[in-house]
Amino acid sequence: MHESTCSGAARSAPNRTTPARGPHRRRGCVLLIKAASDLKASDITPKSVFMNRRAVLAGAAGLAVSGAAARAEAEAKAKALEYVAWDQDLPGKLTKLEDITSYNNFNEFGLDKSDPKKYADALTVDPWSVQIDGLVEKPGSYPLDALLKTSTLEERIYRLRCVEAWSMVVPWIGIPLADVIARAEPSPSAKYVAFETLYRPEEMRGQRASFSLIDWPYREGLRLDEAMHPLTILATGLYGEEMPKQNGAPLRLVVPWKYGFKSIKSIVRITLTEAEPPTPWHTLQAGEYGFYANVNPDVDHPRWSQASERVIGSGLFAKKQPTLMFNGYAEEVEGLYAGMDLTRFY
Ligand code: MTE
Repeated sequence: MHESTCSGAARSAPNRTTPARGPHRRRGCVLLIKAASDLKASDITPKSVFMNRRAVLAGAAGLAVSGAAARAEAEAKAKALEYVAWDQDLPGKLTKLEDITSYNNFNEFGLDKSDPKKYADALTVDPWSVQIDGLVEKPGSYPLDALLKTSTLEERIYRLRCVEAWSMVVPWIGIPLADVIARAEPSPSAKYVAFETLYRPEEMRGQRASFSLIDWPYREGLRLDEAMHPLTILATGLYGEEMPKQNGAPLRLVVPWKYGFKSIKSIVRITLTEAEPPTPWHTLQAGEYGFYANVNPDVDHPRWSQASERVIGSGLFAKKQPTLMFNGYAEEVEGLYAGMDLTRFY
């Protein structure tokens, strides 16, 4: 059994439409991750209970809290988020925090999976604001704090399936993208949403590299109805704490039914457009990466099969697991693509 932290206390949720897989109200928590894959979120212990237990143990042992311990606790609190915890079945066994934060794709910091953890510390994430513009009635530069107040922070435990045929299960903390877009009041002519990552070569060593496939900044895009779907979130944390820099601090997109490359990190701009926005992988290799990039076990990448996936953390000799249509979210999202030929619009 592996123990990992998940902190924060729930704030009350505002009145709004309940997402298809939205969480119910719960308190922040300590997760006891068992070997079994059929865990429910009800196995989660509220943090308050855990903290009380710790206080009782410390008191019983007659321990004085040292200055260093108090500082460590204060630091941990500064990073902890308040959020409404997930209270539904888990979509698989949670991936360990260590794996989520050390096996990354973030080309701005290098091409090796281990580079983002090594180099992303150079990124300044405070202050941070996001420009929302294009076909909206209320364009502007929104400071991160104000943007996050658009809605209540929620935990969303989602599968993440990379186009490279590996997968994880990540407990994100974020807000529905729909609430942010609604706040900017899209014009009737808006049909797509374009996203842009920060361009700051002095902090992002990959952007300074003499050769790069990507024409920086990294960009991504969604159709407006995909962006407004209740499963789509802007995440600002994971495992109960602020987003680690290597995972896209302070704000990244998460679209769980699409290949991971759509989930753009460290977003500084959101633009509503009438035409489909250009995206880097599609522009580079249209035959390999589509604009839609919906997880689809029946449409192989030209160089490898998409029928199964390697589960990160499952061990070198573990069997691959079958990939699910729309990454297991077909019930919620297949209606978005009714009548479309998914072998053509991949
Ligand atoms: N966003 C930016 N800005 N730069 C990137 O290189 N890589 C994408 C996506 N978002 C990427 C990005 C890819 S290919 C994947 S699979 C996911 O981030 C990986 O997210 P993770 O490192 O949190 O697992």
